[in-house]
Amino acid sequence: MLIFNTKAGIQAYLSTNFPNDASVGFVPTMGALHNGHLSLLQNSLQENDVTVISIFVNPTQFNNPDDLEKYPRTLDMDVEKIKTVSNNILVFAPEVHEMYEGHTVSGNFSFGGLENRMEGSSRPGHFNGVGTIVKKLFEIIKPANAYFGEKDFQQLQIVKKMVQQDKMPVVVKGCPIYREANGLAMSSRNQRLTANEKNKSGLIFKTLKEVKDKFGRQNPDDIKNYVQGVFAQHPEFTLEYFEIADEDSLLPLHVEENKKYRAFIAVFIGNIRLIDNISLN
Ligand code: PAJ
Repeated sequence: MLIFNTKAGIQAYLSTNFPNDASVGFVPTMGALHNGHLSLLQNSLQENDVTVISIFVNPTQFNNPDDLEKYPRTLDMDVEKIKTVSNNILVFAPEVHEMYEGHTVSGNFSFGGLENRMEGSSRPGHFNGVGTIVKKLFEIIKPANAYFGEKDFQQLQIVKKMVQQDKMPVVVKGCPIYREANGLAMSSRNQRLTANEKNKSGLIFKTLKEVKDKFGRQNPDDIKNYVQGVFAQHPEFTLEYFEIADEDSLLPLHVEENKKYRAFIAVFIGNIRLIDNISLN
């Protein structure tokens, strides 16, 4: 399997080995790979001539220095996991200086208001950092298709918005959330949970399924109160936000409109922050 650390290296390989009309499928990640990431690779392999995965812990999207420092970096293990999917996947794993010359600063993006709520308001600067790195990566890899998980649904919508606004020649594809047996959404940050915390975190998806069941029968404020009540009864959790929002605008539910809604949640267990979401209709 080929691993590239430089932009020039992967660009030269792609242009030498694939004609201009070959379709490149791209899966951007920050590593510490799990089956959710691998499912994105599988989708890309099915739909493209060549698949590239990037592994890069992007400093500009971390608003919490401790989270950046403790983010798991497991390149050797990641490469082994990629091999279980296919030996033909190209890995782009640059160092920070390769992606950011000089200072690690974000550009200033606007995503039509999608960036203002939930992850945007809880993690100031986060989506500017995501926009900055995804744009750079798209410019290097030049994918025809790029695969993102619905696990980070707001990120998925923001990347789609950026592509639309900047008329980038890439199709952004959303892929379903992979979960542990107890319903906990797979996440690189789960590696930092104790076995006990991991067990208990099944409560997040259990509650989201209850929300889905209540949706349409109870009003959004009552559902929100219910969710706050559930987490208040479990002091090992701190609920950061729970929202029911329109999938496209990410604005709060207006009952009279006939749109697609999703419930979004961010919760701390200890000092690990977990997010999840569920489609409601
Ligand atoms: P990361 O958290 O590593 O996630 C990489 C991709 O995997 C994202 O599109 C994410 O939504 C998807 N993913 C994560 N957990 C998943 C799960 N349980 N099921 C399905 N897909 C899942 O998201 C990022 O990295 C970064 O912000 C990045 C886009 C790479 C920019 O730095």
